Amino acid sequence: MARRMPCYCWVSFLGYIVMITTAFVWYKAMRAFLRIIGPYMIYPGINLKKRAKGEWAVVTGATDGIGKGYAFELARKGFNIILISRSQEKLDNVKNELLGIYSNVKVKTFVFDFAKSKDAKEYQSMIEDVNKLEVGILINNVGTKYTHPELLHGMKDDLSDISNIIAVNTMPVTLLTSALLPQMVQRKGGVVVNISSFSGLYPMSHWSVYSSTKQYVRWLSNILRQEYARKGIIVQTICPGLVVTNMTKKKEPSFFIPDAISYARQAVGTIGISDETTGYMTHQLQVEILKFLPWFIRNWFIDSLSRNIRKAYMNKKKKAKEAKEAKKE
Ligand SMILES: NC(=O)c1ccc[n+]([C@@H]2O[C@H](COP(=O)([O-])OP(=O)(O)OC[C@H]3O[C@@H](n4cnc5c(N)ncnc54)[C@H](OP(=O)(O)O)[C@@H]3O)[C@@H](O)[C@H]2O)c1
Repeated sequence: MARRMPCYCWVSFLGYIVMITTAFVWYKAMRAFLRIIGPYMIYPGINLKKRAKGEWAVVTGATDGIGKGYAFELARKGFNIILISRSQEKLDNVKNELLGIYSNVKVKTFVFDFAKSKDAKEYQSMIEDVNKLEVGILINNVGTKYTHPELLHGMKDDLSDISNIIAVNTMPVTLLTSALLPQMVQRKGGVVVNISSFSGLYPMSHWSVYSSTKQYVRWLSNILRQEYARKGIIVQTICPGLVVTNMTKKKEPSFFIPDAISYARQAVGTIGISDETTGYMTHQLQVEILKFLPWFIRNWFIDSLSRNIRKAYMNKKKKAKEAKEAKKE
């Protein structure tokens, strides 16, 4: 009687599957690795002056945090700087600080409150003045968020906060870009950097409005990048993680939380290399780890984090209220 040969086809089929899966995981891991170290350690930076084709750099929200960091880094690279924020006093201080270090650059300041100016017409005169200068770089940095993580219905008493967040995080990036692109198109060069956030990368539970406006910034940038690449204009999206600024209330820098100057130095170095990046090596490391997680674990992680931050905030607020009442008695 002939003996039946064992069937090896399943074994070789499974072998192929394992090989293909391993190759795919390696490919993904290598790409992630390159995104983490490539812009900071491997790829040479571009000649920013050549690509900008304009002597001036505009920075919105330029008196603190990341915006101030960008202003200093671009001045270091020899650009004249236009600072836009709400307070003339703070603008003058930053201007003096800049000129104290970089005496070779010019600095202009514009007072503008993007929360109060919700009608595009109110931008008109500021835009006309900015457009008189040769703007090669536009850093759409200004942004705001609510004080603590909260569900949307929990913000019913702060509806004006919601409209301010939407106005500040979406209007300036759209209107200023639209107003300054014509001169960039004419010169066939320019750089637009739009500051989004980690929270624009994933749906952030308890930060619904902020997270959605930051997704808007990414979406707008993706479209503009396609539309203007052929006109020689770079449109970059930056999605920072935590940086030591007033917004985060972080005081001390650490491995994952840089100060704004160090952050901006790395972020500016990625212009022309990465279309969309966190702008900082250890932030990119965090994002790549999150990307490897299945979406439901990622969402659970973000949700738990937000709930814990909210709980801590509420406890602190309650204790402060109790202490105030005890003082009164
Ligand atoms: N820090 C982070 O960890 C982090 C993380 C992800 C994304 N981001 C994004 O990065 C950007 C900058 O954040 P940041 O942390 O550097 O903020 P920040 O330290 O709070 O500084 C905000 C800047 O914007 C100006 N500003 C605020 N409201 C304004 C308004 N209504 N009109 C005009 N100017 C206004 C402020 O100046 P005046 O007070 O003088 O007006 C200040 O110069 C934002 O878009 C934010 O969403 C930050």
